[in-house]
Amino acid sequence: MDPTPFIDLKAQFLALRPQIEKALVNVAAATQFIGGPEVGQLEKALAAFVGGGEVIGCANGTDALTLPLLAWEVGPGDAVFCPSFTFVATAEVVALRGATPIFVDVDPQTYNLSPEDLERKIQLVFKKGRLKPKVVIPVDLFGLPADFPAIKAIAKKFDILVLEDAAQGFGGEIFGQKAGLLADAGATSFFPAKPLGCYGDGGAVLVRDPHLAEVIRSSRSHGQGSSKYEHVRLGVNSRLDTLQAAILLEKLSVFPNELEARQKVAQGYNELLSDQIIKPVVPEGYYSAWAQYTVRVPAQLRSGLIQYLKEAGVPANIYYPLGLHQQPYYKQLAGKDFDASCPETEKAALEVLSLPMHPYLSDETLARISSLVNQGLELGAK
Ligand SMILES: Cc1ncc(COP(=O)(O)O)c(C=O)c1O
Repeated sequence: MDPTPFIDLKAQFLALRPQIEKALVNVAAATQFIGGPEVGQLEKALAAFVGGGEVIGCANGTDALTLPLLAWEVGPGDAVFCPSFTFVATAEVVALRGATPIFVDVDPQTYNLSPEDLERKIQLVFKKGRLKPKVVIPVDLFGLPADFPAIKAIAKKFDILVLEDAAQGFGGEIFGQKAGLLADAGATSFFPAKPLGCYGDGGAVLVRDPHLAEVIRSSRSHGQGSSKYEHVRLGVNSRLDTLQAAILLEKLSVFPNELEARQKVAQGYNELLSDQIIKPVVPEGYYSAWAQYTVRVPAQLRSGLIQYLKEAGVPANIYYPLGLHQQPYYKQLAGKDFDASCPETEKAALEVLSLPMHPYLSDETLARISSLVNQGLELGAK
């Protein structure tokens, strides 16, 4: 039997092939590869999808995080709070600005930033007195929005800004409010494996404040002023290609259906996986974009289970094998005397396992993967 893809981009392409081919040829024929009309059309369509605000396309999700930090003049001496359990880009952008990432532990059920530990770490930064708390970057990990109601209340109390890392969360919601627009600014990624992915790199910043939108638009194009060769601020070159925008416009038209299909896959796993396995939790009122379906298994059984699945042609991945506070480069940025411990992250890193998740997963494949996981665990436990 052929191996099961972890994310089936081929099935998605085949389902959309005529529209995608037409879109690609249109862009090639028009030759407006940079700043073509599809970019503006996509920005408007994305803003309509999230229910307001302004969307600014850029080159990737990492730049989408960088641009608001640049606009807020985050730099040396600033503390930026990031979850310890996330992809490195969340903290990398902070260090690149010369600011200091302060790692916050995660909730053991949702894997998202813990509001209690956030408050503790902010107090600790004040106590040490070396850095100024400036921004918190909650991540919508695995597609589930972070606890924005609680995080925003803490941010308000300490007067810090909130940047939503919705790289994995685009399509998610909290009580009907769409991910990306849940904070002072939001960043998303169109990396191919993301819920809404393009055919290369791409990203977008989402904001409600028109002034901030204007600054970010200028910053993504070398700090451009009212004309192309007037530069009013420090900027970068971070544009979304017209080709990628054209592809995303086609994909966005089926995205709501794909999100529903992802809910069905998640429900199927929830029903079919045995009770020995800790399944993902979606709090009341939350809607996950299901970028990943991530379970927890006993640490001592995990590598055996991965091998068992691999032999049966089923890939299973570990996101993430280490917390960022454990990473060689990042672990001492806050200073040796700073208690950076994040025990829930360390435990999760030993136990998590992500299973194939995409909208084109058939019921048959879902049943096969689930019974292989159940069997593999039982065999390992014997
Ligand atoms: C949580 C998180 N933040 C940021 C990024 C960066 O996105 P990109 O790869 O588009 O730069 C990613 C994607 O890999 C991510 O998963």
